Amino acid sequence: MGQLDGRVAVITGAGGGLGREHALLFAAEGAKVVVNDVNNAKEVVEEIAAAGGKAVAVEGSVADMAVGEQLVAAAVETYGDLHVVVNNAGVIRDSMLCNMTEEQFDLVVAVHLKGAFSVTRAAARHWRQESKAGRTIDRAIIQTSSGSGLHGNIGQWNYSAVKAGLTIQAVNASRELGRYGVRANVIAPVGRTGPVIATPGIGAAVAAPEDENAFDRYHPKHVSPLVAYLSTADCPFTGQVFSVHGGHVGLYAGYSLRHAVNTTDHQWSVAELADVMGADDFPKSVEITRQRIVPQGGTQ
Ligand SMILES: NC(=O)c1ccc[n+]([C@@H]2O[C@H](COP(=O)([O-])OP(=O)(O)OC[C@H]3O[C@@H](n4cnc5c(N)ncnc54)[C@H](O)[C@@H]3O)[C@@H](O)[C@H]2O)c1
Repeated sequence: MGQLDGRVAVITGAGGGLGREHALLFAAEGAKVVVNDVNNAKEVVEEIAAAGGKAVAVEGSVADMAVGEQLVAAAVETYGDLHVVVNNAGVIRDSMLCNMTEEQFDLVVAVHLKGAFSVTRAAARHWRQESKAGRTIDRAIIQTSSGSGLHGNIGQWNYSAVKAGLTIQAVNASRELGRYGVRANVIAPVGRTGPVIATPGIGAAVAAPEDENAFDRYHPKHVSPLVAYLSTADCPFTGQVFSVHGGHVGLYAGYSLRHAVNTTDHQWSVAELADVMGADDFPKSVEITRQRIVPQGGTQ
């Protein structure tokens, strides 16, 4: 028996990289999968069918609102319902801010942010309709963020912004769509895919271990079990952000107030703020912890 028996999932950007791994695992765990990508979606569907799974391909860009509708329609018309949306499709167009072009900025915003909007809005409309018809059952959204969107990164003015946006959208979705049975969570993954291999300084750090029998911490397939778990009908998590790679899964604290000064009877003056916030007992930054890329075999 699969952990995702009876679930129907749309996975965007599933023609390669992490998305393909998600689609293969979802199908192996019994889900029926709508595989979306601008490339290679049919090949992944064939791979799933050859392994005895069920999947259908919808090619096209998620940045096109009509494709968002088509993905949801494909799930409902082919498999009777839709339970899970994995917003995974992505591109990177890195550049230092001074050199970043409007095209680089717009493309990244379109694929990640508008892409998640197009698919999730179509799904949310279906889920609202189902709920109003008395069928409120567990639904799940998984947004794909990045350490770049949680901690920032130079050269990624566009990408960090969309990844931060995708993160907070899950918090919004968990609040706004909870009444329809929808949970929404976020992953910040690390996996050795094409864009990561091409990133200077990171490609080498995530290389496969020399010993082919050793655990390959950065193989992209290790990200998929968490995505599948977050998609199971009994999963209790919603509005949460997780780091994931290899054998590591972490739960982020998110933005939270760590220190404050308060008055109850007057507005702070600039001089008073300079006094209290400049004092030694007011921290000048807040310690954060993050997912670290450590060498294969090293301790997390
Ligand atoms: N691999 C990592 O370590 C890592 C880290 C942080 C975040 N991510 C995120 O994970 C997701 C998957 O990335 P990946 O590393 O597997 O990269 P990838 O390039 O291997 O996969 C991305 C897939 O999205 C598809 N795609 C691009 N534009 C699309 C569009 N408009 N419509 C539909 N599909 C489209 C691509 O064709 C590709 O198959 C991305 O959102 C990425 O930002 C990856």
